[in-house]
Amino acid sequence: MAISLKINGVALSVPAEPDTPLLYVLRNDLELNGAKFGCGLAQCGACTVLVDGVATRSCVTPISRIGEAEVTTIEGLGTAEKPHALQKTFIEEQAAQCGYCINGMIMAAADLIKKNPRPSETDVRTALAGNLCRCGTHNRIVRAVMRAAQANGRI
Ligand code: FES
Ligand code: FES
Repeated sequence: MAISLKINGVALSVPAEPDTPLLYVLRNDLELNGAKFGCGLAQCGACTVLVDGVATRSCVTPISRIGEAEVTTIEGLGTAEKPHALQKTFIEEQAAQCGYCINGMIMAAADLIKKNPRPSETDVRTALAGNLCRCGTHNRIVRAVMRAAQANGRI
């Protein structure tokens, strides 16, 4: 059956079963490969996207649960010409090593900064505690998020 979704500002219809995880639709049907498959069990955060602005683990979110909500993936957060502040500071801080976790880190941080535009370092560490990075670039990731928050949209 066809499911209607709104992704990165575009309304579209996807032929998929209602219980299909959003992550599978993003990656397999729409070629939006920014969100990553890590654990598939809501335990690593690599698949995080925003659903109406809220960080959501797309690997365990059936598309039938999205309804009218707006999905934003990292591809819709900014562009190469006009990156989101977080995308810019992650590059400036060289926060990625292998990069596998970075989508989830940025999307979770985007949710945090929207709710709390002036987070403390503790706030950032707490917000990202459930996002795993096997490369151990945590300190650079935290610095990148703090810089983006401090820039407050001026980047
Ligand atoms: S792949 Fe979704 S939380 Fe790990
Ligand atoms: S940069 Fe490799 S898992 Fe985080």
